Amino acid sequence: MLNFFSKKDHKLVINGNQELILENKETVLNGALRHDIKFPHSCKVGGCGTCKCRLISGKVKEFTDKSYLLSKQEIAENYILACQSMPKSDVVIEIPN
Ligand code: FES
Repeated sequence: MLNFFSKKDHKLVINGNQELILENKETVLNGALRHDIKFPHSCKVGGCGTCKCRLISGKVKEFTDKSYLLSKQEIAENYILACQSMPKSDVVIEIPN
């Protein structure tokens, strides 16, 4: 069977209604922006928290410690920083209003 996507490409679903394919080693934020999705962000280096979103399902590799930006409750609710998170599987996220 032909597979048009690399095995390391992952599907990203945002807010249950936007679905896209992220390239290998692409962060959640960069992938969303590459697909012209309006994703809240500012610094892109893990310093502002603007890109926080809730990981509903899937696994990500996080590049920085998010505990200094996110509250204990947000961490308990599985919030991540999109600019610092690279999918390790297909992922579903929710961007807070
Ligand atoms: S854009 Fe600032 S922490 Fe992600």
